[in-house]
Amino acid sequence: MQHQVVIIGGGPSGTLLALLLAQAKIDVLVLERKTKEYVLSRIRAGVLEWNTVDMLTKSGVGSRMNTLGYVHEGTFLSSANRQFRIDFKKTVNKQVMVYGQTEVTFDLYEALRKYDVKILHEVDDVSLDNLNKEFSRVSYKDRSGISKTVKTQFIIGCDGFHGISRKYIPSKILKTYEKIYPFGWLGVLSETPPVSDELIYANHERGFALASMRNKNLSRYYIQVPNSDKIDKWSDQSFWDELKFRLPTETSDKIIIGPSIEKSIAPLRSFVSEPMSWGNLFLAGDSSHIVPPTGAKGLNLAVSDVHYLSKSLISFFVENDKNFLEKYSETALSRVWKGIRFSWWMTTVMHNFPGQNDFERKIQLAELEYLSNSIGAQKSFAENYVGLPY
Ligand code: APR
Ligand code: PHB
Repeated sequence: MQHQVVIIGGGPSGTLLALLLAQAKIDVLVLERKTKEYVLSRIRAGVLEWNTVDMLTKSGVGSRMNTLGYVHEGTFLSSANRQFRIDFKKTVNKQVMVYGQTEVTFDLYEALRKYDVKILHEVDDVSLDNLNKEFSRVSYKDRSGISKTVKTQFIIGCDGFHGISRKYIPSKILKTYEKIYPFGWLGVLSETPPVSDELIYANHERGFALASMRNKNLSRYYIQVPNSDKIDKWSDQSFWDELKFRLPTETSDKIIIGPSIEKSIAPLRSFVSEPMSWGNLFLAGDSSHIVPPTGAKGLNLAVSDVHYLSKSLISFFVENDKNFLEKYSETALSRVWKGIRFSWWMTTVMHNFPGQNDFERKIQLAELEYLSNSIGAQKSFAENYVGLPY
């Protein structure tokens, strides 16, 4: 068996890249460890930068998003019971789209079916060979347990943070940078009308809270919890009580509560591995970098990697130009680090850090007050939130 490109991982990075390559008539195979149902049921963040919206629209997967998604021209931040708005439209003349990553993944799978892209689910034991030869090899066990080997020109690691691809870059070349935060986010999805038309990021001395949404009758809320908390500790009622504490009173007075239809705790981490390529192996998305969800940059960074990588691969296969592939790691990382910086900054300003002293608390409050009063600060926030240009 032979393919021009083999992609490991069928999450948003792998499927969007596969689609763009298939549209350029590049022969691609996707190998995914889990079932399609599992991949399509994962609940993740829900804010798309306009670059992401454009990428999805241009690749023909925008119709559901453009019908069902919500365009947001601003967001609220709050601290000490005071809420203020940052107007994206007014400050940087841009906007974002609120549309769940679960829906994006569904749309991508539908498009792959239309283009007849080969995606194998429930593959196991994926291993890579000959990464520095002209052609490389990917071996795996298919869903029936039969061992297979594929010859390919390029292998793309889109297999997320726990994937195998990154580990093939020799340890003397691979450098990783990491910050683990001493708290997680407890998220609840509930079939209730969202409390606000726009998102509210709340800084509170008891901890961070976020009011987000999926549609007119589906809310997504989060609260900061200690890393040691187990999900059984949080009944629906205790979650709502704590959320109401942390949101500004004008908002919590209006909140409509209901049973949770999904409830989970996610740890927060910033992580980057460099370089993003080695020989015939290229990494994209969570396989190479992770951001805390504050600011919703995870999927958007994955999409910008795919933007650079798809262009590079197409220019190699169509124009025989290897230049962009050679520069891919440097180009993608330059944007990744800016997303890492913004999500680290927002996490640092908005959360309550265990052991935080009065000085650090005052700095957070000063930062938020500055943001609430300064058009310059709001412009910088908005520019990063809506997404830096590619
Ligand atoms: N073999 C095959 N598939 C694998 C392997 C493996 N050894 N390891 C992991 N996978 C699959 C996972 O099952 C998953 O479906 O790779 C996929 C990786 O998907 P994601 O983790 O969603 O990563 P990515 O596609 O880069 O998307 C980034 O998703 O995780 C969020 O916050 C993140 O929003 C960001 C976006
Ligand atoms: C979400 O809706 O899940 C969401 C929104 C914004 C974030 C993180 C998550 O910053």
